[in-house]
Amino acid sequence: MLPGTLLIGTVILSAQAAGQRPAPASEQGVAEPANTPTPVKKAPQAQNHAEAPLGEGDPGWLAYRAVRPAAVFGAESGIPGTIVALGNDALERSSARELARGWRGMLNLVPRVVENQQPEAGNQSENIVVLGTQAQVRAWRPALANGVAMGTDAYRLRSVGKLLLVEGGDSRGVLYGSFALLREIAEEHSVETLDESSHPWAAVRWTNEWDNFDGSIERGYAGPSIFFENGEVRADLSRAAAYARLLASVGIDGCTINNVNANPRLLLAENLKGIARIADVFRPYGVRLSLAIDMSSPKSIGGLATFDPLDPQVAAWWREEADALYQAIPDFGGVVIKADSEGQPGPSQYGRSPADAANVVARALKPHGGLVLYRGFVYNHHLDWRDEKADRARAGYDNFHSLDGKFDDNVIVQIKYGPIDFQVREPVSPLFAALPRTNEAMELQVTQEYTGQQRHLVYLAPMWKESLDRDMRASLSAAPLPVRALISGQPVQGLRHNLGGFVGVANVGTDGWLGHPLALANLYSFGRLAWSPELSAADLADEWTRLTLGNDGAVRAVVNKLEMDSWHIYESYTGPLGVGTLTDIIGVHFGPGVASAERNGWGQWIRADRDGVGMDRTVATGTGYIGQYPAPLAEKYESLKTCPDNLLLFMHHVPYTNRLRSGETVIQHIYNAHYQGAQAAAAQVPAWEALRGKVPDTTYAEVLRRLEFQAGHAIVWRDAVTKWFAQMSGIDDDLHRVGHYPGRIEAETMTLDGYTPADVTPWETASGGKAVECRGRAACSASMVWNRPDGRYDIAVEYFDFRSGISQFSLQVGGQEIDAWAADGTLPDERMNGHTSTRHTVQDVVLHRGDTLRLIGRPDRKEPAPVDYIEVTPGSGEYNRSNSVGSAGAPQARRGEIP
Ligand code: GCU
Repeated sequence: MLPGTLLIGTVILSAQAAGQRPAPASEQGVAEPANTPTPVKKAPQAQNHAEAPLGEGDPGWLAYRAVRPAAVFGAESGIPGTIVALGNDALERSSARELARGWRGMLNLVPRVVENQQPEAGNQSENIVVLGTQAQVRAWRPALANGVAMGTDAYRLRSVGKLLLVEGGDSRGVLYGSFALLREIAEEHSVETLDESSHPWAAVRWTNEWDNFDGSIERGYAGPSIFFENGEVRADLSRAAAYARLLASVGIDGCTINNVNANPRLLLAENLKGIARIADVFRPYGVRLSLAIDMSSPKSIGGLATFDPLDPQVAAWWREEADALYQAIPDFGGVVIKADSEGQPGPSQYGRSPADAANVVARALKPHGGLVLYRGFVYNHHLDWRDEKADRARAGYDNFHSLDGKFDDNVIVQIKYGPIDFQVREPVSPLFAALPRTNEAMELQVTQEYTGQQRHLVYLAPMWKESLDRDMRASLSAAPLPVRALISGQPVQGLRHNLGGFVGVANVGTDGWLGHPLALANLYSFGRLAWSPELSAADLADEWTRLTLGNDGAVRAVVNKLEMDSWHIYESYTGPLGVGTLTDIIGVHFGPGVASAERNGWGQWIRADRDGVGMDRTVATGTGYIGQYPAPLAEKYESLKTCPDNLLLFMHHVPYTNRLRSGETVIQHIYNAHYQGAQAAAAQVPAWEALRGKVPDTTYAEVLRRLEFQAGHAIVWRDAVTKWFAQMSGIDDDLHRVGHYPGRIEAETMTLDGYTPADVTPWETASGGKAVECRGRAACSASMVWNRPDGRYDIAVEYFDFRSGISQFSLQVGGQEIDAWAADGTLPDERMNGHTSTRHTVQDVVLHRGDTLRLIGRPDRKEPAPVDYIEVTPGSGEYNRSNSVGSAGAPQARRGEIP
């Protein structure tokens, strides 16, 4: 029996007394009288899909949709009606509050929540949840406590009779265990015989957020910062708190809130107060705040004449700074340092090493328990592209391997998964295997800088897994040594590591966290992999889908397939055969810009010439990069016979006529992959459309909008890359697709009224290298007479949609408007190119020979309603799917049909 005083425990959901039924969504906030004797009410079977729009308050995967209680608890009467927290620290209170939230959403029940109480020993007549640390459980019922000591953050979930026990190694473990229990319930797993123990793979599981003080986010694609605005910490930090909750739910324990290209002013005393407020809202979820710092701070804000890390005054300055930080934020996590990289100041200025720089800060933080994550992303971006031996990929290893063993034990070298920079495919960085006496963490990028910027769907977990699972053993006779072991912080196989972990560059913003609703699977999977890197990407996609969109089999099948196919699809039209990326690398890294990689100091060269393509990184004839790997991998990559096709152009320079294992030549593969990729991107749209009515309307519409954009942009990529390589290689596409676009009418060849032709740069990002612009007029038009057979056609208009300006378009047939739309996208450029090229398609338009087809564009501000081409192809839409061509009878008018 529970003590009779139970109800005097804190009731956490203030609007409802214990045992109340939750009000329907429309009435929420109105408390009902506590007039029901039993706390259990039937959970609704149907899901309510018309819910709050994405954005403010977006719960992400913590959607807590209704589940079938019987599937979880055997019978509805088995739902525990009381949640007891043995302790009452902030984390246990969060745990209890979270369980109550979950109960309410998933089980349609508001449980009684009791804190800082011990249920009486003896027979229990009621189903209850008890949560507490191992020490608390031991003090309550020694026999129930876990037999062996549980570590930091670990948890165990157990069903013991009517008791569901959430036991944590510490109170953070209680929180993680509570979220794990909620996951079990959300996935409708039975908890009747539950006994699940778990502990994190590594101690450091952080996100980095590249937020600037002014509220912008470097490489952020989901709106402004949730932390800063106008040079200060936001007054309203409710989204920061909601973010900490999301992070905690997947086991993330730290968050670095500012750009690695750090503003030193953040450390000024006047700013620490605001930053401490962010730490305050993180704390109830066990997320420690950390900061990215600028190594020159002792000089730039500290007034010293130097920032030489070996100068005693500099060391003293860092000590004072650390004291101030811990004064303001007692659980401050530590710092992230980007130095001597991409223009950031660093120790090289004084002839000092990264170890000198890391250690001076680490020694200041050490007494407080703080960590230094020193980024391995140190390279020279002024490389000489004419030098065949120069190679940016070598930089991490070259700069760090000789420092192995020289870093203090509270320093971790934070290494990007690949040796270049978050490309769609890279081999794993050889630096991971080169630091047996230095703590290591892997840096992954959740924000999709080089992978479509959340305008394209790319589920990254399969890619991350390839890096985590890569075997780095030193010889074939040695035991396997996967990268995930190297970053575990465990002294396995003779490693002298005491710390390790995972860092995910997340860059969440105010717009649905990551913008694309399906991109949240990346943040989810990042956290789950950081906790348990042995999980599979497919299982994680499924978990995310079930939590976010429910357990409906059709929804799971569609969403999981979309997610799991997406990386390969994106890779195939943007960067095949390990070429790295073909995006505009000196611009915004979004659309195609093939030649931008070459002839500059950034070192993302693809070395394409008339005869072949790829970087020769071999030891025999190339840059020697391959020699940085342990022997088994080096041997595999060095030989053309064993180098995997998907890394071929990363490792070797080969002729276009080189044959792949598939039997295709390299050039034909480039053509085929781009056509297949664009086709697969287009097929994502009808796949998603099958979920209309099965997922929340707002999610449905937002995902559809983005997939439609992606389908069009994949064609931009396809055409740009294939035309570029056809011109460079002089080799035709065997299938005669490249350069031949049936139904395409270049805007510059149409009858123009006000529109004038203009060259587009780079040339491959516009059809024919040209487009038309409307300048100095309120409206312009481009027309043509349809002189092909009568029929139903799809009309695609390829136009350019700049970041600013909202041009208007109207498409007319025979003087009748058949569609009108606004170029209201905010694509990341203000020029006509592969970043802004956009497609709008009107399906199933009836055209008769002799009809005039006219596109009218109305410019807005600097956006001159620019148009690349119109493409008219046999109809593919609703009409043609449901009516075979030539069938008898008069079909009903369809979307886009001329009345
Ligand atoms: C990439 C990215 C930069 C970022 C850098 C880093 O190069 O484009 O914006 O600052 O990575 O990781 O430091």
